Amino acid sequence: MYIDTDLPYKVADIALAEWGRKEIEIAQHEMPGLMALRAKYGAAKPLEGARITGSLHMTIQTAVLIETLVELGADVRWCSCNIFSTQDHAAAAIAAAGVPVFAWKGESLEEYWWCTAMALSFPCANGKNGADCMCSANETNNANGAGCKGPNLIVDDGGDATLLIHKGRAAEIDASTLDVTTGSHEEKIILDTLRTILKEEPRKWHDTVAELRGVSEETTTGVHRLYQMKERGELLIPAINVNDSVTKSKFDNLYGCRESLADGIKRATDTMIAGKVVVVCGYGDVGKGCARSMKSYGARVIVTEIDPICALQAAMEGFEVMTVEDALPEGNIYVTTTGNRDIITLEHMRLMRDQSIVCNIGHFDNEIQMDRLEAAPDVTKLNIKPQVDKYIFGANANANAGANAGTDTGAGCTGAGCTGEKNSRSIFILAEGRLVNLGCATGHPSFVMSNSFTNQTLAQIELWTKQLPVDVYRLPKELDEEVARLHLANLGVRLTKLTDEQAAYIGVSPDGPYKAEHYRY
Ligand SMILES: NC(=O)c1ccc[n+]([C@@H]2O[C@H](COP(=O)([O-])OP(=O)(O)OC[C@H]3O[C@@H](n4cnc5c(N)ncnc54)[C@H](O)[C@@H]3O)[C@@H](O)[C@H]2O)c1
Repeated sequence: MYIDTDLPYKVADIALAEWGRKEIEIAQHEMPGLMALRAKYGAAKPLEGARITGSLHMTIQTAVLIETLVELGADVRWCSCNIFSTQDHAAAAIAAAGVPVFAWKGESLEEYWWCTAMALSFPCANGKNGADCMCSANETNNANGAGCKGPNLIVDDGGDATLLIHKGRAAEIDASTLDVTTGSHEEKIILDTLRTILKEEPRKWHDTVAELRGVSEETTTGVHRLYQMKERGELLIPAINVNDSVTKSKFDNLYGCRESLADGIKRATDTMIAGKVVVVCGYGDVGKGCARSMKSYGARVIVTEIDPICALQAAMEGFEVMTVEDALPEGNIYVTTTGNRDIITLEHMRLMRDQSIVCNIGHFDNEIQMDRLEAAPDVTKLNIKPQVDKYIFGANANANAGANAGTDTGAGCTGAGCTGEKNSRSIFILAEGRLVNLGCATGHPSFVMSNSFTNQTLAQIELWTKQLPVDVYRLPKELDEEVARLHLANLGVRLTKLTDEQAAYIGVSPDGPYKAEHYRY
């Protein structure tokens, strides 16, 4: 049986729970927005009765979000949205607290999609064949009807849970939708996962959608996916775009990455950033945070952009703006932040300076051509430690792949092509091209995540308490301002109060909202 809802959780090591709990308690002090929501709604329990699936990095900060949702009345199951981003002690603490969590650091892709399916499958309250088990009547192959209930709400980050449900439902209507040929290793695994589920539970995703009230999406890339699905007429459920709350994208993406990018690079490599040339690809919210971070360390920063407005912004901040190709002779560290694909190609990597560090902080790993790098016959991979790999280019790459790879001593060089000459060039790839701040470090600090997750919680309440028609929504500006307001006292911020005359003069209410919808911050 592929989905087994009798399994209470799957984490790396439940014995880490006590450590996780201590860190959760520390994080709570830095997450005033979430704690304020607990104080405000804890008694009323506006999420009572809601089954919520989360597919979002299983970190300490996410643990505080999960426990907020539980305190507001929800029945929660969780998985991570990246194979490397789970903090095992956070997952253990949440599992020990009784929330079914399926996440560990270093999942295989097969395990990752199994975890997603497990998080999307709730046991029936009255047993597997109980009357409340909505799909038991339709169960043909799955004799005990496990995993019959889907969620009512989803907290998604990058859209993987939403994608599984939509693709799964399409396959229940027409199984040949799974017969596509794809060059993507991960896509093949998704198709295999859906085939397995289709055999065991042929109506699972129809039944899931029937009770699904909506999804709140955390990140830029996931939001792009939602709008594309809406455009194509494929979106089946209402969605709230949390990313474009000002208190999310202008804080988490910018200030979060400003701190966590350096954390990831340093934990992975211990390299000195000062004096290096850092190439930041993309100058959106994440790119702005990354470029500022690297500059603050004393690096010379080069930005690449396709958008003239963002390119001009970068230039006005004093960054050089050029193409990746032009930057190759100079760059020491490369960071992709675009949410787009094929930003760093295999050809780029071949031309980089020896010992360059290449990483991605965008949501998916296809910003760097990892599949092509892995498949290149003249490239050898040498693992340094978890989430840090050296790739050696050149004719003698295989022979030089030993401990002394890249040196001209010849020691450890035993292959036929070994001449003892220094003829290979190496680069380092962090977190196999997946988001470096979560793969090599622990993601953003709690305070900034409190802003993001306060928006997430408000979005979940919106979806559960209102029957929204299918569309993609944003939270109202009043709530955005409220999220910010909840974080002021923690920083000792003293806000100026508008007088009635001032409010009338600029045409707003003294209590807000203070800006028009078109204002860009
Ligand atoms: N790691 C994290 O903690 C974290 C946090 C937030 C967002 N994200 C992810 O980071 C990515 C970027 O998010 P964002 O909010 O900054 O998006 P954004 O849209 O604000 O910025 C992306 C920028 O990349 C530029 N771009 C696109 N294609 C390009 C190309 N070929 N070359 C150069 N530039 C190009 C765009 O013009 C845009 O300015 C997304 O995948 C998002 O989901 C990651």
